[in-house]
Amino acid sequence: AGLNTAAVAKGQLYFGSATDNPELSDSAYLTQLSNTDDFGQITPGNSQKWDATEPTQNKFSFAQGDVIADLAATNGQKLRCHNLVWHSQLPSWVSSGTWTNATLIAAMKNHITNVVTHYKGKCYAWDVVNEALNEDGSYRSSIFYTTIGEAFLPIAFAAAAAADPSVKLYYNDYNIESAGSKSTGAQRIVKLIQSYGVKIDGVGLQAHFIVGSTPSLSAQTTNLAAFTALGVEVAYTELDIRMTLPSTSALLAQQSTDYQNTVAACVANVKCVGVTIWDYTDKYSWVPGTFSGQGAACPWDDRLVKKPAYTGILNAL
Ligand code: XIL
Repeated sequence: AGLNTAAVAKGQLYFGSATDNPELSDSAYLTQLSNTDDFGQITPGNSQKWDATEPTQNKFSFAQGDVIADLAATNGQKLRCHNLVWHSQLPSWVSSGTWTNATLIAAMKNHITNVVTHYKGKCYAWDVVNEALNEDGSYRSSIFYTTIGEAFLPIAFAAAAAADPSVKLYYNDYNIESAGSKSTGAQRIVKLIQSYGVKIDGVGLQAHFIVGSTPSLSAQTTNLAAFTALGVEVAYTELDIRMTLPSTSALLAQQSTDYQNTVAACVANVKCVGVTIWDYTDKYSWVPGTFSGQGAACPWDDRLVKKPAYTGILNAL
């Protein structure tokens, strides 16, 4: 069995991958992405972000996002929709606009209402708010936090829930995969939204890890339990495990173990619905472009050949 078939047999909803529009013209890439034995879910890596969907205020462009949504529908894959409110990849009219509390709330609600309505019925989940926290668990000083305060979070979730009552609504962040200030901060966000009487269904743990410093299986299972005890589901939403290049057989073996531990942590929690890797192949990974000198973070290499990490994942499933 492949990754998704094995994950579903273990009670998970899916095993999935991120993708992006430019690489869909690579037919070998597309064939593997569309293989539902391995991938029962896909996430658009860029084309549903604010700069892509509302580049000018109240002028929406869904063409690129629709390509990925249509691909998921054609393949019979679930779609994780990503994301609505984030400090990064904002159009300049948002990031450099002159805002008051009231005007930014109105613009944010209008964005959420339009985007969620457009994709209504097509997404398993929306990442409603992405990366609102600093490493110490305090709020990041985004335009949303500095203008609206922490209420931007429940306001965003309420707008998403009103536009599509059926879609799962997630808070998504990185470095919340083991206990610590930032994970505690994400738990505080769950409780904040709940305290407003607003729905939050899940927490997405991005899991952009480093070979050899990935949290242990027990550290991850303990951390997942702290979230699910709050009444939300969890998912690993952007898993990749990078290394300082060049890759060696020892690093690839450690990477396999690291992938196995994270997938095993998800399988061990009945409320962990699935794992998404942040693209499946090193050919299109975001890592080398973002972390200088690092890469080889995915379970398939840059020739689309399976690495030891593929077997590591299967060992957990
Ligand atoms: C990344 C994309 O993969 C890149 O193509 C883009 O240049 C930058 O964003 N956390 C997230 C994702 O939530 O949206 C980011 O995706 C990776 C980090």
